[in-house]
Amino acid sequence: MTDLLDEKRIGRVAEMIAKARDVVVFTGAGISTESGIPDFRSPGGFWTKFDPEDFTITRFLENPETRRKQWRFLLSGDLFRDASPNRAHQAIAALEAMGKLDCIITQNIDNLHEKAGNDPERVFELHGNMRWVRCLDCGERFPVEEILERHRSAEDPPPCGGCGGILKPDVVFFGEALPDETLREATRRASRCDLLIVIGSSLVVYPAAYMPLYAKQSGAGLVIVNWTPTPADGIADVVIHAAAGEVMERIVADLRRRLDRCV
Ligand code: APR
Ligand code: ZN
Repeated sequence: MTDLLDEKRIGRVAEMIAKARDVVVFTGAGISTESGIPDFRSPGGFWTKFDPEDFTITRFLENPETRRKQWRFLLSGDLFRDASPNRAHQAIAALEAMGKLDCIITQNIDNLHEKAGNDPERVFELHGNMRWVRCLDCGERFPVEEILERHRSAEDPPPCGGCGGILKPDVVFFGEALPDETLREATRRASRCDLLIVIGSSLVVYPAAYMPLYAKQSGAGLVIVNWTPTPADGIADVVIHAAAGEVMERIVADLRRRLDRCV
């Protein structure tokens, strides 16, 4: 629940958005926990269930057993497939509909911003998207559903239909470079905006976690909505340690009242 102090801060953030020219929203796994997808570093998070080593590019390439594990993980797929956007995702889609969103820079691979109705052209997915697999040899991309349909009963991950190469989920593994065009454009947007709002990230994984710093260094306002403290709290203009869904819903409701008063 938000408390009275949060109420004041919620009003402050709504006013910052109302006055801003270019609002960038930066999201992490914490925005999707209310959709039933565990985040990575909270108690019971993803890294308490899976070994991060199995998500390093080196082990994926060297170890067929790791590729089999990844294939089984894709086959189980329920982690993302049945998840639907929650109030926080919907609030960000409302910001776009109100003309108050330049873009979303997300570390998430769950596709929930697109599912909430944000224009995919305004969603920069720094760590890729679980909807695709990519061939490491010819670079061809395939919808994961298509590959799963064709090979559901296969024990081993299927090879690329085009060249027989290794297929890998189109998400960034540890030790892998981020998609450079996406990273370049996200960096440009973060450095150009006049307000950046972080929602649901521990801000401990780089280079993604540089985005709030780029914004601050360029003179933008910085807001952090996160259950727990982050390393950037000290440079933020507003910090709200409460649930993303309720906070974002209240911010957009307050913003709507402010914008209605202006017409
Ligand atoms: N409301 C607000 N904050 C929340 C909520 C919620 N409902 N649920 C979780 N949080 C906060 C947690 O307190 C935590 O600080 O969201 C943050 C999520 O942090 P992480 O689990 O570290 O996720 P993230 O920051 O996205 O991780 C970055 O690390 O493992 C890699 O590639 C992976 O993209 C991921 C990257
Ligand atoms: Zn191929």
